[in-house]
Amino acid sequence: MLLLTLSPKTLSSSSSSSSPLPQSQNPRLKSPNPSRLNTRCGPVLPKSEVHTERGLEFDSGETFFRHESARGRDLGVLSASLHKRSTGSLRVLDAMCGCGIRSLRYLVEAGADFVVANDANDENRRVITRNLTRVERGEGDGRRWAVTHMLANKAMIERYMVGDFFDLIDIDSFGSDSAFLRDAFNALKLGGLLYLTSTDGYSSGGHRPYNSLAAYGAFIRPMPFGNEIGLRMLIGGAVREAALLGYHVTPLFSYYSFHGPVFRVLLRVHRGKLHEDRNYGFVTFCHLCGHSDSVRWDELGLLGCHCSDTKASSSLVVSGPMWLGPLHDGSYVTEMLDLAKEWGWVSEGTGMDLEKLLSIMIEESDPRLPPGYFKMDEMASRAKMNSPSLKKMMSALVKEGYAVSRSHIISNGLKTDCPISHFINIAKAELQS
Ligand SMILES: C[S@@+](CC[C@H](N)C(=O)[O-])C[C@H]1O[C@@H](n2cnc3c(N)ncnc32)[C@H](O)[C@@H]1O
Ligand SMILES: [Zn+2]
Repeated sequence: MLLLTLSPKTLSSSSSSSSPLPQSQNPRLKSPNPSRLNTRCGPVLPKSEVHTERGLEFDSGETFFRHESARGRDLGVLSASLHKRSTGSLRVLDAMCGCGIRSLRYLVEAGADFVVANDANDENRRVITRNLTRVERGEGDGRRWAVTHMLANKAMIERYMVGDFFDLIDIDSFGSDSAFLRDAFNALKLGGLLYLTSTDGYSSGGHRPYNSLAAYGAFIRPMPFGNEIGLRMLIGGAVREAALLGYHVTPLFSYYSFHGPVFRVLLRVHRGKLHEDRNYGFVTFCHLCGHSDSVRWDELGLLGCHCSDTKASSSLVVSGPMWLGPLHDGSYVTEMLDLAKEWGWVSEGTGMDLEKLLSIMIEESDPRLPPGYFKMDEMASRAKMNSPSLKKMMSALVKEGYAVSRSHIISNGLKTDCPISHFINIAKAELQS
């Protein structure tokens, strides 16, 4: 990888907007007509709308904008700011910027040195530029931002070709992000951050296994913790693509949001392949007894569930390969929480506030916790009993020496390394106590 970093001034803010979009040779992947791109993100009303997010006023115009994505933007900004604090540098590519709210927040809140706000739809240009004008654009080496209108792949390839790398690339796409992975890795600095999105709930739910196979190289079957599988599938796809280029990635945080649904992961890119990645393999779920497990590549021939006498249990389904390791880096998320406190972003007291979300993520990052979670109501109906409270169950599991945490994905779910049969026995004992 080239390590030469050119000055931001080499990036023209206007040249790209006039260059024609390349035509795809694959009839199923037609190059988008920029004026129709918004249709990928749902219907858009032809009006201007002024919003305020974390005290910043901006106009979403006629671009695709979702207020519900504010939490995902908060997480991106906290991470960007931590990166700037630890490395002294923050060059951001906001590859699908919509109205430019992320770009604005990276500039104002995270103190980005330079942000490229890119959106293939050049009809968004006026609103993006108007929003970013709140930050003085600057000139020459001091230039803070530029607006471009390329396909995200082109925006990344172009920078890679001239050795101009980013600290953070944010790809807020609709559908699956996997087509952008390779170009994103190439355009990132080593140690840089890649913030990915997938909204493909059908694939994570196991309803389109051949789609997930094509997009992420993972054959996904329905499992009760499909939304966690969605995050693991996305990380796994990035792990595979990074290995191809001679890098490895680690997830700093993973975030599922039911609006959409949206699966977001922030990955750090490191140099060098891992020779043996124990965190990349398969997840099983037994429909008969409810037990789930992780299976590594060299254990594939041994599949079966202990609840079944036969060697191959027909009740057992297998999904993968995918990421099996922790969903988050606990010490990193602790830094995010500290920064959120410093900025007064905590204790909002509404629903899943940022403090609660980050605290649960810290619990979930315990490396002893396997993929998946038990839903208390499902466990109760499986065992034909009522369920004890989450709190009671958590302290009983800890007393028995198991790792346990809440799940940020579902409010009545518990992650634990306790097998289902013992979990049910502990729940029964708790009900009687
Ligand atoms: C989910 S919206 C972005 C929302 C924005 N990031 C935010 O936080 O409000 C996706 C945007 O990507 C743009 N887009 C779609 N396909 C693209 C592509 N291949 N390259 C670049 N932009 C694209 C659309 O025009 C749309 O504005
Ligand atoms: Zn079983």
